[in-house]
Amino acid sequence: MKGVEYLMNVLVTGGAGFIGSNFVFYMLNKYPDYRIVCLDLLTYAGNLSTLEPVMANPNFRFVKGDITDRELVTNLFKEERFNYVVNFAAESHVDRSIEDPGVFLKTNILGTQVLMDASRTYGVKRFHQVSTDEVYGDLPLDKTDLFFTEETPIHTSSPYSASKAAADLLVQAYNRTFNLPITISRCSNNYGPYQFPEKLIPLMISRALKDDSLPVYGKGQNVRDWLYVEDHCTAIDLILHRGKDGEVYNIGGHNERTNLEVVKTILKELDKPASLITYVKDRAGHDMRYAIDPSKTKRELGWEPTTLFDDGIKQTIKWYLDNRSWWENIINGDYQKYYTRMYGSREGATT
Ligand code: NAD
Ligand code: DAU
Repeated sequence: MKGVEYLMNVLVTGGAGFIGSNFVFYMLNKYPDYRIVCLDLLTYAGNLSTLEPVMANPNFRFVKGDITDRELVTNLFKEERFNYVVNFAAESHVDRSIEDPGVFLKTNILGTQVLMDASRTYGVKRFHQVSTDEVYGDLPLDKTDLFFTEETPIHTSSPYSASKAAADLLVQAYNRTFNLPITISRCSNNYGPYQFPEKLIPLMISRALKDDSLPVYGKGQNVRDWLYVEDHCTAIDLILHRGKDGEVYNIGGHNERTNLEVVKTILKELDKPASLITYVKDRAGHDMRYAIDPSKTKRELGWEPTTLFDDGIKQTIKWYLDNRSWWENIINGDYQKYYTRMYGSREGATT
């Protein structure tokens, strides 16, 4: 750390992805006396250009590396002596987990184990696992009074959600067996800036802007509970600093919409015709409805989401309109050349 004293040193894994990058920006802005170290493998979903605005910030360090690489992770912990670890790094797309589950098990489960082993060895104050509401399975469409609470049994549908649930169980086991200080957050669907255009909202925005067909799975009646990404960041911040050791916290804002409603909202905002909608074969094992009960997080930590879906979707669409080059570079593959172009010659000089 080159002699500079920071109040806290925080490891953010997966910080070149969607939620992780938003969290990096949020933390650097909110805590000017914290050091934030991002460890990210830069898989297809990680985009270093997203972090360009903070690469020169003296409180920030980017390290390219794999959370499953035990030697790299151990050396990083030895060097940095982190106070907090926030684990966002994961394979995150359900459809990809159906195509090829292996990497989901490796990154999401074994990667979490490697990070926790290093956290034990170097005595972190808190290991926070960023989990998902998908570990609870799904709810029926016709029982709108049912919500996921922290007591809802784990019941997974996809290789992705099974890998996240396995990681959650391992995190709880490390807490009980080894007294590793942990918290887990389980959040509903996020949306906002820097989301990779394979996920529903950015996929539909980017395709509608090009007048391409909009592939809606099945009948489009599946329900998701949408949370603006910054509201997720504020919740993790509170849980990290004030959450109780060993606890699970649900995060969601009661913004339930069917997929068709979401797609129609996007079409309306962009003034594009409904004829772009194309119904396609359903996702295998497709969860019907997610709906979070966040009352524990509100009651114990005073967390409140601030962005309603109707406002957040407009802000998000505007962001994708204002930042076309960010997602167009992804779609044409240029972003994958970015690291080599910008940092290839500086490999090893990661500070
Ligand atoms: P994302 O796919 O956009 O980003 C994942 C990041 O992790 C990428 O930068 C990628 O390069 C990195 N990564 C992948 N494998 C790695 C490895 N082996 N080592 C180091 N880095 C690696 O994901 P996201 O949507 O930002 O999700 C972040 C976390 O939040 C995930 O754990 C996900 O399960 C969870 N989550 C996501 C949502 C959502 O709606 N997107 C909701 C709830 C929880
Ligand atoms: O609930 C939290 C989860 O939300 C996170 O844990 C995952 O990482 C994240 O990817 C997200 O999972 P979903 O499967 O809900 O998100 P996705 O954007 O892939 O799909 C949202 C809904 O839209 C889902 O019902 C499937 C549907 N869909 C998706 C795509 C990509 C379509 O109808 N067409 C599509 O092309």
